[in-house]
Amino acid sequence: MAGMRLFPEDSDVTLPRGTVTAVDLVSDDDRSVAADSWSIKSEYGSTLDDEQRHADATEALSASTFRAASDYNSDKDEQDGEPEPSMLGFQSYWDGAYADELTNFREHGHAGEVWFGSEVMETVVSWVKSLCLELSQARLSNHATSDDSELAMQHEKDLSKWSVLDIGTGNGLLLQELAKQGFADLTGTDYSGGAIDLAQSLADRDGFNIRFLVDDILNTKLDRMFQLVMDKGTLDAIGLHPDGSIKRIMYWESVAKLVAPGGLVVITSCNSTKDELIQEVEAFNQRRSVSGSSENPETRLEQEESRDPPPFRYLDHVRSYPTFMFGGAVGSRVATVAFVRN
Ligand SMILES: C[S@@+](CC[C@H](N)C(=O)[O-])C[C@H]1O[C@@H](n2cnc3c(N)ncnc32)[C@H](O)[C@@H]1O
Repeated sequence: MAGMRLFPEDSDVTLPRGTVTAVDLVSDDDRSVAADSWSIKSEYGSTLDDEQRHADATEALSASTFRAASDYNSDKDEQDGEPEPSMLGFQSYWDGAYADELTNFREHGHAGEVWFGSEVMETVVSWVKSLCLELSQARLSNHATSDDSELAMQHEKDLSKWSVLDIGTGNGLLLQELAKQGFADLTGTDYSGGAIDLAQSLADRDGFNIRFLVDDILNTKLDRMFQLVMDKGTLDAIGLHPDGSIKRIMYWESVAKLVAPGGLVVITSCNSTKDELIQEVEAFNQRRSVSGSSENPETRLEQEESRDPPPFRYLDHVRSYPTFMFGGAVGSRVATVAFVRN
Protein backbone atom coordinates (compact mmCIF):
# COMPACT_ATOMS: atom_id res chain seq x y z
CA MET A 1 0.00 0.00 0.00
CA ALA A 2 1.52 3.27 -0.97
CA GLY A 3 1.68 6.26 1.33
CA MET A 4 -1.10 8.73 1.90
CA ARG A 5 -3.21 9.22 -1.15
CA LEU A 6 -6.23 11.09 0.14
CA PHE A 7 -6.99 14.16 -1.86
CA PRO A 8 -9.70 16.75 -1.87
CA GLU A 9 -11.17 17.95 -5.13
CA ASP A 10 -10.74 21.66 -4.84
CA SER A 11 -7.16 21.75 -3.70
CA ASP A 12 -4.60 23.27 -6.06
CA VAL A 13 -1.94 21.37 -4.26
CA THR A 14 -1.23 18.10 -5.95
CA LEU A 15 0.34 16.52 -2.88
CA PRO A 16 -2.26 15.37 -0.42
CA ARG A 17 -2.45 17.04 2.95
CA GLY A 18 -1.66 13.80 4.67
CA THR A 19 1.89 13.67 3.44
CA VAL A 20 2.86 15.37 6.69
CA THR A 21 3.71 12.50 8.97
CA ALA A 22 2.99 11.98 12.63
CA VAL A 23 6.67 12.67 13.24
CA ASP A 24 6.27 16.09 11.67
CA LEU A 25 3.35 16.64 13.96
CA VAL A 26 5.41 16.06 17.05
CA SER A 27 7.71 18.86 16.10
CA ASP A 28 5.30 21.46 14.82
CA ASP A 29 1.77 20.75 15.87
CA ASP A 30 1.47 19.99 19.53
CA ARG A 31 -2.27 20.54 19.27
CA SER A 32 -2.50 17.32 17.30
CA VAL A 33 -0.13 15.46 19.53
CA ALA A 34 -1.95 16.50 22.66
CA ALA A 35 -5.20 15.24 21.25
CA ASP A 36 -3.76 11.91 20.42
CA SER A 37 -3.63 10.17 23.66
CA TRP A 38 -5.09 6.89 22.51
CA SER A 39 -8.39 7.78 24.13
CA ILE A 40 -10.13 9.29 21.16
CA LYS A 41 -12.03 12.37 22.09
CA SER A 42 -15.68 11.55 21.94
CA GLU A 43 -18.34 13.59 23.56
CA TYR A 44 -19.66 10.42 25.12
CA GLY A 45 -16.67 8.15 25.34
CA SER A 46 -15.02 6.79 28.42
CA THR A 47 -11.31 6.22 28.32
CA LEU A 48 -11.72 2.89 30.06
CA ASP A 49 -13.99 1.62 27.30
CA ASP A 50 -11.48 2.75 24.72
CA GLU A 51 -8.65 1.04 26.51
CA GLN A 52 -10.54 -2.22 26.76
CA ARG A 53 -11.51 -2.22 23.10
CA HIS A 54 -7.99 -1.23 22.13
CA ALA A 55 -6.66 -4.17 24.14
CA ASP A 56 -9.19 -6.51 22.50
CA ALA A 57 -8.27 -5.32 19.03
CA THR A 58 -4.54 -5.62 19.79
CA GLU A 59 -5.09 -9.17 20.94
CA ALA A 60 -7.10 -9.98 17.83
CA LEU A 61 -4.38 -8.50 15.66
CA SER A 62 -1.55 -10.41 17.29
CA ALA A 63 -3.60 -13.63 17.24
CA SER A 64 -4.23 -13.33 13.54
CA THR A 65 -0.94 -14.10 11.94
CA PHE A 66 -2.77 -14.96 8.76
CA ARG A 67 -3.60 -12.69 5.96
CA ALA A 68 -6.67 -14.46 4.61
CA ALA A 69 -6.10 -16.50 1.51
CA SER A 70 -8.18 -14.78 -1.08
CA ASP A 71 -10.06 -16.08 -4.07
CA TYR A 72 -9.64 -12.71 -5.62
CA ASN A 73 -6.62 -11.91 -7.70
CA SER A 74 -4.82 -8.84 -6.59
CA ASP A 75 -4.21 -6.34 -9.33
CA LYS A 76 -0.96 -5.41 -7.63
CA ASP A 77 2.27 -7.29 -8.06
CA GLU A 78 3.09 -7.30 -4.40
CA GLN A 79 1.60 -6.30 -1.13
CA ASP A 80 2.84 -2.94 -0.02
CA GLY A 81 3.31 -2.17 3.65
CA GLU A 82 1.01 -0.19 5.85
CA PRO A 83 0.53 3.45 4.87
CA GLU A 84 2.70 6.01 6.64
CA PRO A 85 0.88 7.41 9.66
CA SER A 86 -0.23 10.93 8.96
CA MET A 87 -1.93 13.87 10.56
CA LEU A 88 -5.19 12.75 8.92
CA GLY A 89 -5.33 9.94 11.47
CA PHE A 90 -5.77 12.44 14.30
CA GLN A 91 -9.04 13.97 15.40
CA SER A 92 -7.29 17.24 16.17
CA TYR A 93 -6.40 17.54 12.50
CA TRP A 94 -10.04 17.26 11.48
CA ASP A 95 -11.20 19.61 14.22
CA GLY A 96 -8.76 22.21 12.89
CA ALA A 97 -9.72 21.58 9.26
CA TYR A 98 -13.44 21.90 9.95
CA ALA A 99 -12.96 25.03 12.05
CA ASP A 100 -11.40 26.58 8.93
CA GLU A 101 -14.13 25.21 6.69
CA LEU A 102 -16.85 26.57 8.98
CA THR A 103 -15.24 30.00 8.81
CA ASN A 104 -15.12 29.70 5.04
CA PHE A 105 -18.74 28.67 4.96
CA ARG A 106 -19.85 31.54 7.19
CA GLU A 107 -17.81 34.14 5.33
CA HIS A 108 -18.16 32.92 1.75
CA GLY A 109 -20.83 30.19 1.73
CA HIS A 110 -18.28 27.56 0.60
CA ALA A 111 -19.26 23.91 1.12
CA GLY A 112 -15.68 22.75 1.63
CA GLU A 113 -13.80 19.82 0.24
CA VAL A 114 -15.30 16.99 -1.75
CA TRP A 115 -12.98 14.12 -0.97
CA PHE A 116 -11.90 12.24 -4.10
CA GLY A 117 -13.75 14.83 -6.22
CA SER A 118 -17.30 15.31 -7.44
CA GLU A 119 -16.92 12.79 -10.23
CA VAL A 120 -16.16 9.99 -7.77
CA MET A 121 -18.98 11.13 -5.49
CA GLU A 122 -21.44 11.07 -8.39
CA THR A 123 -20.18 7.68 -9.54
CA VAL A 124 -20.55 6.24 -6.05
CA VAL A 125 -24.04 7.65 -5.62
CA SER A 126 -25.40 6.45 -8.94
CA TRP A 127 -23.75 3.03 -8.51
CA VAL A 128 -25.14 2.66 -4.98
CA LYS A 129 -28.56 3.73 -6.17
CA SER A 130 -28.55 1.01 -8.86
CA LEU A 131 -27.33 -1.57 -6.38
CA CYS A 132 -30.08 -0.73 -3.89
CA LEU A 133 -32.72 -0.72 -6.59
CA GLU A 134 -31.55 -4.12 -7.83
CA LEU A 135 -31.71 -5.51 -4.33
CA SER A 136 -35.11 -3.94 -3.68
CA GLN A 137 -36.40 -5.25 -6.99
CA ALA A 138 -35.13 -8.72 -6.24
CA ARG A 139 -36.94 -8.59 -2.91
CA LEU A 140 -40.09 -7.24 -4.53
CA SER A 141 -40.02 -9.59 -7.50
CA ASN A 142 -43.27 -11.15 -6.39
CA HIS A 143 -44.99 -7.80 -6.71
CA ALA A 144 -43.92 -6.93 -10.25
CA THR A 145 -46.00 -4.39 -12.09
CA SER A 146 -46.16 -3.89 -15.83
CA ASP A 147 -46.78 -0.16 -15.80
CA ASP A 148 -43.56 1.88 -16.24
CA SER A 149 -44.60 4.96 -14.29
CA GLU A 150 -45.86 2.79 -11.49
CA LEU A 151 -42.53 0.99 -11.56
CA ALA A 152 -40.64 4.32 -11.38
CA MET A 153 -42.73 5.38 -8.41
CA GLN A 154 -42.16 2.02 -6.81
CA HIS A 155 -38.40 2.55 -7.27
CA GLU A 156 -38.56 5.90 -5.56
CA LYS A 157 -40.49 4.39 -2.69
CA ASP A 158 -37.98 1.58 -2.48
CA LEU A 159 -35.08 3.99 -2.03
CA SER A 160 -36.92 6.07 0.53
CA LYS A 161 -37.22 2.94 2.67
CA TRP A 162 -33.47 2.41 2.87
CA SER A 163 -32.04 3.75 6.11
CA VAL A 164 -28.63 5.23 5.36
CA LEU A 165 -25.68 6.02 7.61
CA ASP A 166 -22.66 7.93 6.33
CA ILE A 167 -19.70 7.35 8.66
CA GLY A 168 -17.29 10.29 8.91
CA THR A 169 -19.65 12.38 6.84
CA GLY A 170 -17.52 15.55 6.83
CA ASN A 171 -19.59 18.25 5.12
CA GLY A 172 -22.39 15.75 4.46
CA LEU A 173 -22.47 16.34 0.71
CA LEU A 174 -22.56 12.62 -0.05
CA LEU A 175 -25.84 12.40 1.87
CA GLN A 176 -27.19 15.40 -0.02
CA GLU A 177 -26.43 13.59 -3.28
CA LEU A 178 -28.15 10.45 -2.01
CA ALA A 179 -31.17 12.56 -1.01
CA LYS A 180 -31.34 13.94 -4.56
CA GLN A 181 -31.57 10.35 -5.80
CA GLY A 182 -34.55 9.52 -3.59
CA PHE A 183 -32.99 8.24 -0.36
CA ALA A 184 -34.90 9.79 2.52
CA ASP A 185 -33.86 8.21 5.82
CA LEU A 186 -30.41 9.75 6.08
CA THR A 187 -28.00 10.00 9.02
CA GLY A 188 -24.47 11.36 9.01
CA THR A 189 -21.97 10.99 11.83
CA ASP A 190 -18.52 12.37 12.40
CA TYR A 191 -16.31 12.56 15.48
CA SER A 192 -15.51 16.16 14.73
CA GLY A 193 -18.17 18.54 16.05
CA GLY A 194 -17.04 21.09 13.46
CA ALA A 195 -17.86 18.68 10.63
CA ILE A 196 -21.33 18.13 12.04
CA ASP A 197 -21.92 21.90 12.40
CA LEU A 198 -20.81 22.38 8.81
CA ALA A 199 -22.88 19.48 7.46
CA GLN A 200 -25.97 20.64 9.36
CA SER A 201 -25.54 24.25 8.21
CA LEU A 202 -25.17 23.16 4.58
CA ALA A 203 -28.18 20.83 4.75
CA ASP A 204 -30.30 23.57 6.36
CA ARG A 205 -29.20 26.10 3.78
CA ASP A 206 -29.85 23.75 0.87
CA GLY A 207 -33.15 22.41 2.20
CA PHE A 208 -32.21 18.80 3.00
CA ASN A 209 -33.70 16.87 5.86
CA ILE A 210 -30.73 14.87 7.17
CA ARG A 211 -29.86 13.90 10.75
CA PHE A 212 -26.32 14.72 11.80
CA LEU A 213 -24.70 13.52 15.01
CA VAL A 214 -21.30 13.72 16.62
CA ASP A 215 -20.20 10.11 16.99
CA ASP A 216 -16.90 8.29 16.97
CA ILE A 217 -17.29 5.14 14.91
CA LEU A 218 -14.69 3.41 17.08
CA ASN A 219 -16.80 4.05 20.14
CA THR A 220 -20.20 4.48 18.62
CA LYS A 221 -23.26 5.35 20.65
CA LEU A 222 -25.65 4.65 17.79
CA ASP A 223 -28.26 2.20 18.96
CA ARG A 224 -29.93 1.29 15.70
CA MET A 225 -29.00 -0.54 12.53
CA PHE A 226 -28.95 0.80 8.99
CA GLN A 227 -29.62 -0.89 5.68
CA LEU A 228 -26.95 1.07 3.89
CA VAL A 229 -23.74 2.20 5.55
CA MET A 230 -21.50 4.46 3.50
CA ASP A 231 -17.88 5.38 4.10
CA LYS A 232 -15.97 7.67 1.80
CA GLY A 233 -12.46 8.29 3.05
CA THR A 234 -13.12 7.61 6.74
CA LEU A 235 -11.57 4.16 6.98
CA ASP A 236 -8.62 5.62 5.07
CA ALA A 237 -8.29 8.38 7.66
CA ILE A 238 -8.62 5.93 10.55
CA GLY A 239 -5.90 3.75 9.05
CA LEU A 240 -3.50 6.70 9.06
CA HIS A 241 -3.32 6.84 12.83
CA PRO A 242 -0.10 5.30 14.16
CA ASP A 243 -2.34 2.57 15.63
CA GLY A 244 -4.18 2.35 12.33
CA SER A 245 -4.21 -1.43 11.95
CA ILE A 246 -5.73 -1.89 15.40
CA LYS A 247 -8.23 0.88 14.79
CA ARG A 248 -9.26 -0.75 11.53
CA ILE A 249 -10.19 -3.91 13.42
CA MET A 250 -12.21 -1.83 15.86
CA TYR A 251 -13.85 -0.13 12.89
CA TRP A 252 -15.10 -3.43 11.44
CA GLU A 253 -16.34 -4.58 14.85
CA SER A 254 -18.41 -1.40 15.10
CA VAL A 255 -19.66 -1.51 11.54
CA ALA A 256 -20.76 -5.13 11.93
CA LYS A 257 -23.11 -3.94 14.68
CA LEU A 258 -24.52 -1.09 12.61
CA VAL A 259 -25.38 -2.81 9.32
CA ALA A 260 -28.76 -4.56 9.40
CA PRO A 261 -28.87 -8.20 8.24
CA GLY A 262 -29.11 -8.15 4.46
CA GLY A 263 -27.90 -4.55 4.44
CA LEU A 264 -24.86 -3.13 2.70
CA VAL A 265 -21.67 -1.41 3.66
CA VAL A 266 -20.02 0.52 0.85
CA ILE A 267 -16.42 1.64 1.34
CA THR A 268 -14.75 4.16 -0.94
CA SER A 269 -11.02 4.30 -0.45
CA CYS A 270 -7.96 5.66 -2.10
CA ASN A 271 -5.54 3.98 0.29
CA SER A 272 -6.72 0.42 -0.23
CA THR A 273 -7.42 -1.36 -3.48
CA LYS A 274 -10.56 -3.37 -4.00
CA ASP A 275 -8.61 -6.56 -3.30
CA GLU A 276 -7.09 -5.18 -0.13
CA LEU A 277 -10.53 -4.21 1.15
CA ILE A 278 -11.88 -7.65 0.34
CA GLN A 279 -8.92 -9.29 2.09
CA GLU A 280 -9.40 -7.06 5.12
CA VAL A 281 -13.02 -8.10 5.38
CA GLU A 282 -12.17 -11.76 4.89
CA ALA A 283 -9.59 -11.48 7.66
CA PHE A 284 -12.23 -9.90 9.88
CA ASN A 285 -14.66 -12.73 9.05
CA GLN A 286 -11.99 -15.28 9.85
CA ARG A 287 -11.09 -13.66 13.14
CA ARG A 288 -14.74 -13.74 14.09
CA SER A 289 -15.00 -17.43 13.30
CA VAL A 290 -11.75 -18.34 15.08
CA SER A 291 -12.53 -16.41 18.25
CA GLY A 292 -14.41 -18.60 20.72
CA SER A 293 -13.49 -21.87 18.97
CA SER A 294 -13.08 -24.76 21.34
CA GLU A 295 -9.88 -26.81 21.52
CA ASN A 296 -12.00 -29.97 21.66
CA PRO A 297 -12.63 -31.26 18.08
CA GLU A 298 -16.13 -32.52 18.90
CA THR A 299 -17.21 -29.30 20.54
CA ARG A 300 -15.59 -27.40 17.69
CA LEU A 301 -17.63 -29.36 15.14
CA GLU A 302 -20.82 -28.57 17.04
CA GLN A 303 -19.80 -24.94 17.27
CA GLU A 304 -19.10 -24.82 13.56
CA GLU A 305 -22.48 -26.31 12.71
CA SER A 306 -24.37 -23.86 14.87
CA ARG A 307 -22.19 -20.87 14.04
CA ASP A 308 -23.62 -17.77 12.38
CA PRO A 309 -22.38 -17.12 8.85
CA PRO A 310 -19.42 -14.73 8.56
CA PRO A 311 -20.50 -11.13 9.09
CA PHE A 312 -19.76 -9.82 5.61
CA ARG A 313 -19.82 -11.09 2.06
CA TYR A 314 -18.29 -9.29 -0.91
CA LEU A 315 -21.03 -8.18 -3.30
CA ASP A 316 -19.65 -5.92 -6.01
CA HIS A 317 -17.35 -3.00 -6.75
CA VAL A 318 -17.22 0.02 -9.03
CA ARG A 319 -15.41 -1.09 -12.13
CA SER A 320 -14.48 2.12 -13.85
CA TYR A 321 -12.91 5.09 -12.23
CA PRO A 322 -11.01 7.96 -13.75
CA THR A 323 -7.35 8.19 -12.90
CA PHE A 324 -6.00 11.20 -11.06
CA MET A 325 -2.83 13.22 -11.33
CA PHE A 326 -0.86 14.37 -8.38
CA GLY A 327 2.75 15.29 -7.93
CA GLY A 328 3.08 15.08 -11.72
CA ALA A 329 2.29 11.38 -11.67
CA VAL A 330 -0.88 9.47 -12.30
CA GLY A 331 -2.43 8.89 -8.91
CA SER A 332 -3.86 5.75 -7.49
CA ARG A 333 -7.27 4.53 -8.35
CA VAL A 334 -10.14 4.94 -5.99
CA ALA A 335 -11.84 1.73 -4.98
CA THR A 336 -15.50 1.44 -4.04
CA VAL A 337 -16.55 -1.95 -2.73
CA ALA A 338 -19.89 -3.18 -1.39
CA PHE A 339 -20.27 -5.93 1.19
CA VAL A 340 -23.51 -7.53 2.35
CA ARG A 341 -24.14 -8.12 6.03
CA ASN A 342 -25.12 -11.74 6.46
C1 LIG B 1 -11.26 12.08 4.28
S1 LIG B 1 -12.51 12.77 5.26
C2 LIG B 1 -13.94 12.28 4.35
C3 LIG B 1 -15.14 13.12 4.68
C4 LIG B 1 -16.40 12.71 3.90
N1 LIG B 1 -16.71 11.30 4.10
C5 LIG B 1 -16.24 13.00 2.44
O1 LIG B 1 -16.18 12.06 1.64
O2 LIG B 1 -16.16 14.18 2.10
C6 LIG B 1 -12.54 11.67 6.68
C7 LIG B 1 -13.62 12.01 7.68
O3 LIG B 1 -13.66 10.99 8.66
C8 LIG B 1 -13.87 11.59 9.91
N2 LIG B 1 -13.39 10.61 10.91
C9 LIG B 1 -12.13 10.13 11.03
N3 LIG B 1 -12.07 9.24 12.03
C10 LIG B 1 -13.33 9.13 12.52
C11 LIG B 1 -13.91 8.35 13.56
N4 LIG B 1 -13.17 7.53 14.32
N5 LIG B 1 -15.23 8.47 13.78
C12 LIG B 1 -15.99 9.32 13.05
N6 LIG B 1 -15.48 10.10 12.07
C13 LIG B 1 -14.17 10.00 11.81
C14 LIG B 1 -13.09 12.89 9.85
O4 LIG B 1 -13.50 13.83 10.81
C15 LIG B 1 -13.41 13.31 8.41
O5 LIG B 1 -14.59 14.07 8.36
